[in-house]
Amino acid sequence: KTIYILNGPNLNLLGKRQPEIYGYDTLADVEANCRALLPDGYDLTLKQSNWEGQIVDWIHEAREKACGIVINPAALTHTSVAVLDALNTFEGPIIEVHISNVHKRESFRHHSYVSLRADGVIAGLGIEGYEMGVRRVLTLTKDA
Ligand code: DQA
Repeated sequence: KTIYILNGPNLNLLGKRQPEIYGYDTLADVEANCRALLPDGYDLTLKQSNWEGQIVDWIHEAREKACGIVINPAALTHTSVAVLDALNTFEGPIIEVHISNVHKRESFRHHSYVSLRADGVIAGLGIEGYEMGVRRVLTLTKDA
């Protein structure tokens, strides 16, 4: 079973971008921390793109290849009906992750299209949020 961890725009700069908000850890650290949680029989694939259409294509790919999705859609959270529509075609569990507490920030970050589909939402736990998301996908898929 494979878990997809998808990341939207600007998260390639995680660790360098506004570290006072997002911290100094990188997506490579996220991947290593999440991989350490996987029981036998599970794998994960972490991907990042700055392009909305690429995220949509990876969600379609996940329909065939993934048992669950952990997604930080970044700014697309607040803008993208296309990402929401793609997620609505996926049948397994979806956990939405935000590194920062979006509710403590500008009001335009308070609304999420993705939350209309997500089974759970994690915000403000730093990169540990990804690990929580993976744990939840494991719980929801272990008997499936
Ligand atoms: C983010 C929060 C979004 O509002 C922002 O656009 C991001 C990252 C987070 O992880 O806290 O790029 O999703």
